[in-house]
Amino acid sequence: MLNNMRLLSDLSTKTVRSPSRAMGALSPLDPSSYSRPELAIIKHISLSLNVDFDKHVLSGEATLNFDILADINELILDTSNLQIESIEEVGGSKLQYKLGDNLANFGSKLTILLPKQASSGEKIKIKIKYTTGPTASALQWLDAEQTSGKQHPYMFSQCQPIHARSILPCQDTPAVKFTYDAEVTAPEHFTVLMSALRGQVTANKTSFNQPMPLPSYLVAIAVGVLESRTLGPRSKVWSEKEEIERSAWEFAETERYLQAAEKLCGPYEWTQYDLLVLPPSFPYGGMENPCLTFVTPTLLAGDRSQADVIVHEIMHSWTGNLVTNRNFEHFWLNEGFTVFLERKVGASLINDSAEAKRSRDFHSLLGLQELSEAIHDELGVDNPLTKLVVSLDGVHPDDAFSTVPYEKGSLFLVYLENLLGGPEVFDDFLRSYLTKYRKKSLDTDQFKAFLLDYFKDNDKLKKLDWDAWLYTSGMPPAIPDYDTTMTKAITALVAKLNGSVVTFSYKDVSSFTPHQLIHYLQQLIERPALPLEQLRAMGEEYKIIGNKNTEIWYRWLRLCARSKDESKLSEIFGFLNTNGRMKYVRPLYRDLYAWEEVRSQAIDNFLKNEKNMMHVTAYTLKKDLHLIE
Ligand code: BES
Ligand code: ZN
Repeated sequence: MLNNMRLLSDLSTKTVRSPSRAMGALSPLDPSSYSRPELAIIKHISLSLNVDFDKHVLSGEATLNFDILADINELILDTSNLQIESIEEVGGSKLQYKLGDNLANFGSKLTILLPKQASSGEKIKIKIKYTTGPTASALQWLDAEQTSGKQHPYMFSQCQPIHARSILPCQDTPAVKFTYDAEVTAPEHFTVLMSALRGQVTANKTSFNQPMPLPSYLVAIAVGVLESRTLGPRSKVWSEKEEIERSAWEFAETERYLQAAEKLCGPYEWTQYDLLVLPPSFPYGGMENPCLTFVTPTLLAGDRSQADVIVHEIMHSWTGNLVTNRNFEHFWLNEGFTVFLERKVGASLINDSAEAKRSRDFHSLLGLQELSEAIHDELGVDNPLTKLVVSLDGVHPDDAFSTVPYEKGSLFLVYLENLLGGPEVFDDFLRSYLTKYRKKSLDTDQFKAFLLDYFKDNDKLKKLDWDAWLYTSGMPPAIPDYDTTMTKAITALVAKLNGSVVTFSYKDVSSFTPHQLIHYLQQLIERPALPLEQLRAMGEEYKIIGNKNTEIWYRWLRLCARSKDESKLSEIFGFLNTNGRMKYVRPLYRDLYAWEEVRSQAIDNFLKNEKNMMHVTAYTLKKDLHLIE
């Protein structure tokens, strides 16, 4: 934790080798993009791509339709390690272009020179022939041995936050929304999926159409030998055949979640809601790619206990995908809103209203605990990245990622909901916010102006301390009085560890829900390490050993690492080498790093397995292990 704290505060204070607004290299609207959406804007993209598993590249062409908004002589796009073959105006001549220097993790600015000045109101269509780099940061190419079936290779993408530029030349900023269509060629027997509606499928060609405008970070593709099962009238689940039955069972309630979401937010506008269960190297729990949420196979707990992740990704269909943060400094507008909605909808799925409230408060308390850990132990209370609205000048959004926008953002909305009259009033406000900003991108100032206008007759808003909530580092200024019914038993059980004689019996935990057991283990992680015999006795008595729910298993392994249980090392390395979900592998690697006798073994293990990891996982682990700055 300490190591990470130093690392993140370094990043936020030191000049890093990355572009910044001050250097004038980047868009004044988005410090993470070269593009200039105030001058010209992409409205539609047509892709025609071939998937080459031997060379690990996508190649083909992207046709970009621009609306011109000012008098300009050039178009500016984001790219990252793309090999550009040619650029032409559709129906016109070849265009001159220049590729700028490649800035680590931000890519290169592509400047396309127009043959004559274009003026506001014009439309321009250009076609770019290109090939992706074999190490494109958005793509992971898996060899057959890395898949469940062991017979065929696999490829998938992860574009959020700013990796889309490594698969297509684009305005890689969420300020820009475009519709897209695609035609993808892949070897026979492979299934191609994208964040769009699937059209015609022939032996080796699949076509797609996405009629809803989306930001570049929501372009997604996956290619593998896959199966599907129907989950509901608008949903299927996709995975390799080895996982398909478990997946169909785990996510069988998807349609019920969608209906609960629609009841709060209005109609689901993306037509199809499918799930794709990825190989274990997928770096996140879930990713809200439109029409096709990507999820980690660690959600297959066998008890539907990870349903909150699905509800979370479903809620992004409104907050994030329909209404989008204008750049990643306002990421809380995506994630804070989504966590807030996830918990409301999660509670609405429970029939008994008292129990629903207890459950929403329990999940909020777990979130609060994570927020407190992030602010106090990981980032430090003065770290500017603990502000709700952050500055990404010179900071890569992958480095700024933390639970702060999720939990502080959601707490802000809970605070506003309570302040302004409760759900009866606030639910209507939410729906009118979604209607107003539907298919648009916005920043925090626009949110604030909208809220102030909507509640202009409500005096309560006058005393709201906006600066404390939005621009002050550390814990939020107010924390609601949550119902602690579900945490009481856990707190009592943790307190027993302070007694002079410590005993464990299965009946201590037999009535716990999986989340209560997770919360218990999480509390232990934050205490001084338990003596080894105590830890082992607890693991056995509470039947934690051998539990394959990864939320439980990974916390158990962290406890073993913190109590320096050498006999567990091979299990820990086994876990690390077969899982890419950053939420698990980063803390575990940090624990191993802190265990001095094991540090070099941990680094060796990382170096040996780095090639099996997705770019973002390897990049963040290298920082955690102090292999790069
Ligand atoms: N959109 C995020 C994942 C993400 C964020 C990817 C930033 C890349 C950059 C997704 O909706 C998410 O938040 N996933 C969470 C699960 C959720 C229940 C909090 C995760 O992956 O753990
Ligand atoms: Zn999210």
